[in-house]
Amino acid sequence: MNFAGILAGGSGTRMGKTDLPKQFLMLGQKPIIIHTIEQFLIAPSIDEIIVAVPENWVSYTEDIIYKYCSDTRIHVIKGGASRNETVMNVCKYINENYKNDNNIVVTHDAVRPFVTQRIIEDNVEQCKKYGATDTIIPAVDTIVESKDGNVLSNIPVRSQMYQGQTPQSFNVSEFIKTYEALTEEEKEILTDACKVYILKEKPVGIVIGENYNMKVTTKYDLKMANLMLNNLKDGEE
Ligand code: CTP
Repeated sequence: MNFAGILAGGSGTRMGKTDLPKQFLMLGQKPIIIHTIEQFLIAPSIDEIIVAVPENWVSYTEDIIYKYCSDTRIHVIKGGASRNETVMNVCKYINENYKNDNNIVVTHDAVRPFVTQRIIEDNVEQCKKYGATDTIIPAVDTIVESKDGNVLSNIPVRSQMYQGQTPQSFNVSEFIKTYEALTEEEKEILTDACKVYILKEKPVGIVIGENYNMKVTTKYDLKMANLMLNNLKDGEE
């Protein structure tokens, strides 16, 4: 089976002071997280949707799902202390309830509401092929590295540089096995779920994302997302 793992376990500190964690803020007529869930509800290859939120937001999330997009395929669970721990909670829930070595999870930031059907389907296909997939876009600006924040340490070749988005997709059993094999120290430095695979020298297939598959991180992003929503509604991409 193919699952969506909607990652909404964060508190959105970079959004500044708000009444609700950013994933629950309104974008147009409905909360950001609802826009995201809806994209997976209409994806032909997705069977079930697991939504992971902070423990004290579980019943709130169930209430808004009931209000905006009630569907028996949606399951709300608690997230983890870090983003990777949230991915693990989703994987463990799938293993406990639907155990099968071929299960795939398409994990996606709850705060990227403009994910497309093409990106979701490509993730499922590439994940079947490679066991893991990352969604990325070619870097437009030159990416530079500075190890100490004062002087440059490297300027990598731009044509080989990309920027990471989500979804990131995994064979569920393989992700659990790979993540559990990490030391506590490795777990701390691995802020990106695909990096787990890179560290263990396992392949990660590529899906090219879209510039507009943006992540709502700051108040400015939320303003941009509202403008984009109106443009997309008008059919102008
Ligand atoms: N996320 C998660 N579990 C965590 C931390 C983050 O599921 N323990 C999710 C967030 O809810 C978000 C996505 O991962 O949908 C991308 O993370 P980010 O934008 O960094 O979200 P926050 O951690 O909420 O934001 P901030 O870093 O500003 O606090």
